[in-house]
Amino acid sequence: MLLHIPEVLNKVQLNLARELLDKAKWADGRVTAGTQAAKVKNNRQLPEDGPEAKQLRALVLEALSKSALFFTAALPKRIYPPLFNRYGGEANSFGNHVDNAIRTHPASAQHVRTDLSFTLFLAEPHEYEGGELVIEDGFAGRPVKLPAGDLILYPSYSVHRVEPVTRGARLACFSWLESMVREPQNRELLYELDMAILAQREQYGDNDISVRLTSCYHNLMRMWANV
Ligand code: NI
Repeated sequence: MLLHIPEVLNKVQLNLARELLDKAKWADGRVTAGTQAAKVKNNRQLPEDGPEAKQLRALVLEALSKSALFFTAALPKRIYPPLFNRYGGEANSFGNHVDNAIRTHPASAQHVRTDLSFTLFLAEPHEYEGGELVIEDGFAGRPVKLPAGDLILYPSYSVHRVEPVTRGARLACFSWLESMVREPQNRELLYELDMAILAQREQYGDNDISVRLTSCYHNLMRMWANV
């Protein structure tokens, strides 16, 4: 499932993020790539231990914790501390690759199984040419280029790439998460059920049916969730 989550960051948070990104020192993006991905990765990334990266991570994690849509779609158990990248100039693309299955948090040594990947766009589409995130999920890849502050959630098992940026700079935050519900089909079913219950409650208010459906949702969570 590919899910577009709009306005994860509001304008104030976005402006702060851009100020921090302007001040920060960029490094070669290959530091976090696996050996296969490193061959096709050509971008810049913020070193994880820099002061700006720390503030940016806190800002993004706070915003994610407030997004109900992100929570219900991802059912996150562990989120790898978000990273920040820049595509532009000579370092402008990332060819087809898959994300490593396990990421190990450098500070805590905690493992995160990557069930879902996300990209949070931090530059407006008009600020750069190219730079689409292309996710191969069937006959043809789907190009994704979202407004600044919006996020795309996609399966980490997908082959994906970032098209060359030919003008301006594409700034983004990205990371991976381990979901409480490992099986994509189970997770998607829970998401569909949750959305349907929400729509039903909005239309008809709470009633016996919404209570029974909510009970089904939670009982499926009991069966499938690993916390
Ligand atoms: Ni990737």
